[in-house]
Amino acid sequence: MKFAASRLEPVKPSASAWVSQAAKEAKARGEDVIDLGLGEPDFDTPPHIIAAAHQAALRGQTRYPPTNGTLEMRQAVVDKLVRENSLSYAVNEVIVSNGAKQVLFNAMMATLEQDDEVLMCAPYFGQYKDIVLILGGQAVALKCPAENGFRLSPEQLEAAITSKTRWIMLNLPSNPAGAVYTDDDLQALGAVLERHPDVLILSDEIYEHILFDGRTFRSFAAANPSFKDRTLTVNGVSKAYAMTGWRIGYGAGPKPLIAAMTKVQSQICSGACAIAQAAAAAALNGPQDAVRAFTKEFEARRDLVVDRVAQIDGLTLDPPGGAFYGLIGCAGLIGAETEAGETLEDDAAITGYILRDAGIAAVPGSAYELSPFFRISTAASTGVLNHAMDRIAASVAKLKRKT
Ligand SMILES: Cc1ncc(COP(=O)(O)O)c(C=O)c1O
Repeated sequence: MKFAASRLEPVKPSASAWVSQAAKEAKARGEDVIDLGLGEPDFDTPPHIIAAAHQAALRGQTRYPPTNGTLEMRQAVVDKLVRENSLSYAVNEVIVSNGAKQVLFNAMMATLEQDDEVLMCAPYFGQYKDIVLILGGQAVALKCPAENGFRLSPEQLEAAITSKTRWIMLNLPSNPAGAVYTDDDLQALGAVLERHPDVLILSDEIYEHILFDGRTFRSFAAANPSFKDRTLTVNGVSKAYAMTGWRIGYGAGPKPLIAAMTKVQSQICSGACAIAQAAAAAALNGPQDAVRAFTKEFEARRDLVVDRVAQIDGLTLDPPGGAFYGLIGCAGLIGAETEAGETLEDDAAITGYILRDAGIAAVPGSAYELSPFFRISTAASTGVLNHAMDRIAASVAKLKRKT
């Protein structure tokens, strides 16, 4: 009996899911594994946000919410976009969904025709590709090398656009590389897109607050105001407020696009949890001290990991400008031989070795379509990260390198 529809066939099990499963199995066998594969803050949701959810439930906010989001939450998003991003939207140009993931899915489901192309900047968040494939589109990876700070260049963008291009997806700053774009970078991409009026822009800004070295954030639509009528700005509360489990994300864009996405959402889930929306509104409207404290801590961890990697021969890491990952270059270990006689041919093999030998779960760069790298998350205390780096250093030191 065949259960899975053929539209699921192009979606391969992800390397990150494989790593997380392998780490779980190793832990179940009693092995001492540190899981640095995870993409979620290790902090607790701030108490005033939890209190807002409690109050909303007690007030009876327990019925089906409006499909596109509660008015309170959509207004909180409108206010946030004005206050923090200098973007002006009406409440009917905003949708609230079950995480930014669902915003992305709704957008692709609402707009893609068979074989439409979606451009994405590799290394990219794996879901970008999979949703496009499930929906019959073509995911086009534009490789953004470390030498260019993992950023997309205007020349690459120009060369990639065809008559089938429907979207370009940007992620500011990016998972997994922490790539950051200046105003000039965003305007240079805008200058290319000016020549291609049928291409839509999706700007995933979920890591906007996790920016380092005193950088200030700029939304794509704020750097390119004339693109507001074809940009979907995506964001959410998961990363900034340590609210991954609450599943609230949002999108702001042209009214007809938001209406089409609402039609999709209506069929999938009738909207996002009303209680979680009350919590998310409190997160956006309330004090922002926790966001600043989380970012400070992520920056200290970034510094620690960069320092430690610099001391490991064979690994490289330029300081990421944002987000909470280290995408570590491991070109120096390709072809190295383990004590067991295995030759490490690629970053998947290197990640497997680090899991087996050092007990550290990381995700290979191949999962993000850029090799040879592996990603560790810095969503762990400095003590744990130091310990993890000790173990990685010891395992790398045991390898026999090609001369
Ligand atoms: C770049 C990026 N976009 C979107 C998401 C999804 O976030 P959410 O928890 O809001 O669904 C993630 C989660 O890892 C991410 O890394």
